[in-house]
Amino acid sequence: MAVKLKNLKQQTIVITGASSGIGLTTARMAAKRGARLVLAARSENALRQLTDEIRRTGGKAIYVVADVSKQEDVRKIARAAQEAFGGFDTWVNDAGVGIFGKLEEIKIEDMRHLFETNFWGLVYGSLEAVKHLKQRGGALINIGSTVSERVVHMQGIYSTSKHAVKGFTDALRMELEADGAPVSVTLIKPAAIDTPFPRNAKNYMDKEATLPPPVYAPEVVAQAILHCAEVPERDVFAGGGGKGLAALGYYAPRLADKIMESSLFVNTQKKNKPARPREVNGLDRPSEHLAERGGYEGHTMESSLYTQASLRPIATVALVAGAGLAVAALVRASQNRQNGARR
Ligand SMILES: NC(=O)c1ccc[n+]([C@@H]2O[C@H](COP(=O)([O-])OP(=O)(O)OC[C@H]3O[C@@H](n4cnc5c(N)ncnc54)[C@H](OP(=O)(O)O)[C@@H]3O)[C@@H](O)[C@H]2O)c1
Repeated sequence: MAVKLKNLKQQTIVITGASSGIGLTTARMAAKRGARLVLAARSENALRQLTDEIRRTGGKAIYVVADVSKQEDVRKIARAAQEAFGGFDTWVNDAGVGIFGKLEEIKIEDMRHLFETNFWGLVYGSLEAVKHLKQRGGALINIGSTVSERVVHMQGIYSTSKHAVKGFTDALRMELEADGAPVSVTLIKPAAIDTPFPRNAKNYMDKEATLPPPVYAPEVVAQAILHCAEVPERDVFAGGGGKGLAALGYYAPRLADKIMESSLFVNTQKKNKPARPREVNGLDRPSEHLAERGGYEGHTMESSLYTQASLRPIATVALVAGAGLAVAALVRASQNRQNGARR
């Protein structure tokens, strides 16, 4: 069966991890574009504030306090969507958390806890979404990462969870396609994005955690997510830097290992200030900040030409060709003027 997606104005969208970063930016952008929203995370105050803000500006939203590592909480999200809006058209599994540090030093219980959120939370969300979407059609959008393709050490257990997310999402897509289900399944792979993610991560390093450049704005990912809510896409790199790293890892894996093992690369994940106490983290407790950005100290890329081109190849070719023709016309005109002046 062909997958047909509605335009955003006609959609109800569930977003997990809506209280911060990419999920928050996506929620605000979707509300501006007329979608109804079901917002989920653990931070009740942040969700209430966001829901009030959306309603004040004429949008429709409800929130559900949910810990995605608990399957019953995830079921509660779907039930709330059903009660408030009669169901949903797109489900975005965005909730996720990181751990920075060496694998040999991280407690096994922290590794398991991260998997409970990043992997099992996404499995619960995907299965709940598909159960409903198989009946009415729609989109499941799972947030992976560049590290779904190419691990970054010092974020080893996080990278491993995002590999698992990719494996699960790809397999689910194939099963649904084989069954002819009217469900689009997309894996979004963000590059490094300026969100509170490093601050919310549990940090085993001696220095504050940060992200290796190039770093992109959360809007780059939010635009990709909302594109995939309307247009079925298999997978998308949000931020061209991520595609570059994945390609290097694919075509020259040993070279990529060596470059990334260098202290120069490792230091790009550390700020020049001592780490806060390890207990301050968003793995063990809700983050409680309604913040889209994390205050990255280097340059943040506000857009990604690579991602725009991969989502709208024809428009991009036309734009580049148009720009080329315009430049050629300008050059020709200036040559004609010079020739005229010489005569
Ligand atoms: N920032 C990056 O560089 C980057 C790159 C690639 C992929 N990603 C992925 O993008 C997604 C969003 O991350 P972000 O950068 O926006 O980070 P963020 O600002 O820390 O946001 C993470 C969100 O996940 C929610 N969350 C965490 N644990 C949860 C749980 N157990 N139950 C429910 N919600 C939970 C948090 O809300 P509460 O604390 O309120 O529960 C928060 O809303 C994650 O899957 C992350 O892995 C991020």
